[in-house]
Amino acid sequence: MATNYNRVVNFGAGPSALPVSVLEEASKGLLNFQNTGIGIAEISHRSKEFTAFVANLEVLIRTQLDVPSTHRILFTQGGGSGQFSAVVLNMLARYRLLHPECTAADTVTDYVVTGSWSKKAAEEARRLGGGTVNVVVDGRTFSEGGKAFDSIPAHDAYKFSEDPALVYYCENETVDGVEFSHEDSSPASFPFHLLPKGGLVPLVADYSSSFMCRPIPHLADHAIIYAGAQKNIGPAGLTILIVREDCIVDVDAAAKLGATPVPITLSYKTLADSGSLYNTPSVLAMYISGLVLERMQKHGGLKHYEETNRRKAGKVYSVLKEGEAKGVLRRKVKEGSGSWMNVVFEIVGPDAEKRFLEGAEERGMKGLKGHRSVGGIRVSLYNAVTEAEVDQLVEYIKDFILQ
Ligand SMILES: Cc1ncc(COP(=O)(O)O)c(C=O)c1O
Repeated sequence: MATNYNRVVNFGAGPSALPVSVLEEASKGLLNFQNTGIGIAEISHRSKEFTAFVANLEVLIRTQLDVPSTHRILFTQGGGSGQFSAVVLNMLARYRLLHPECTAADTVTDYVVTGSWSKKAAEEARRLGGGTVNVVVDGRTFSEGGKAFDSIPAHDAYKFSEDPALVYYCENETVDGVEFSHEDSSPASFPFHLLPKGGLVPLVADYSSSFMCRPIPHLADHAIIYAGAQKNIGPAGLTILIVREDCIVDVDAAAKLGATPVPITLSYKTLADSGSLYNTPSVLAMYISGLVLERMQKHGGLKHYEETNRRKAGKVYSVLKEGEAKGVLRRKVKEGSGSWMNVVFEIVGPDAEKRFLEGAEERGMKGLKGHRSVGGIRVSLYNAVTEAEVDQLVEYIKDFILQ
């Protein structure tokens, strides 16, 4: 029989829940990795056992996400925030090599801003000063009062530049609970058909909080997809990159032409040339992520997770509708733009939020407080949160509505 180690149900937004079976196996690996007699946090990252593990980590991602041979899979550190800088620097270097005659002032980067994380990414591009940052669309414009990120904008609101060095979007906004639909026919889908035509589109996507929860639509049309591991995959410390070959450029040659020099560990070429082992990687985070990915494959891969995650989110949104109809709750995101992974809402009435959180904790459910910048409640439904645990939360919300 499985032991639960007095664990509670963890609905936290990240770092977040990991499967108990993986943690049990990892605890053995911490003591002795693959019968080497050395623990995983103690073994050389250049040992044959660990390098084989990294090669398999790549295969597990490539096969489950169906990543084409046009794209490399790279591993690094620095999290999503590190990539806010890295994508700008690498893509500006690429642009400079393609257009040696252009100055930084002539260069445009396009940012689709649908929440706090894409807003932050655009701010970093501005800070790095590689040219003009064009906000393709700002989701707040369409909210009542113009301040909240509460929907994915309609396709006709997007104003892409003609020849940007990159086009950036965040697939799932973890703080605001806003996510692009994966149905091309939905008004809340990403407008792939409106992207600048001609050549390889420099499309960059932050998948930090939705990576490996379902297949990625139009994956092959992306230049870069990146994700921190600490939501669906493993502990913090590992960042996963899927980079199209033409975006792995000689950043030093670009710097000679006037592009901003790229720190060696942020250069995609450094990562690609060294098999993601230029310097010491986050060995333990890679190990646990590998165990999670192996388990995912055994459980039927992304098809299985997509179906389960669809049902999990459906159950939560459905009880929230009931609560809203009774005036007890208020959903913060407009219909059709709600995230599968991070569901956000408010409890109506004085002290009601405190009562809700205390009641949840009494029933063994934690991590439900919204992000400090926006408040309210946030339920994170990452892969390791089981459907039975979601049912437990839904029961609690039903009881709370009736109180
Ligand atoms: C969508 C998204 N992007 C970027 C980040 C920043 O990631 P990190 O904390 O790994 O820098 C987060 C963090 O939660 C996130 O959810």
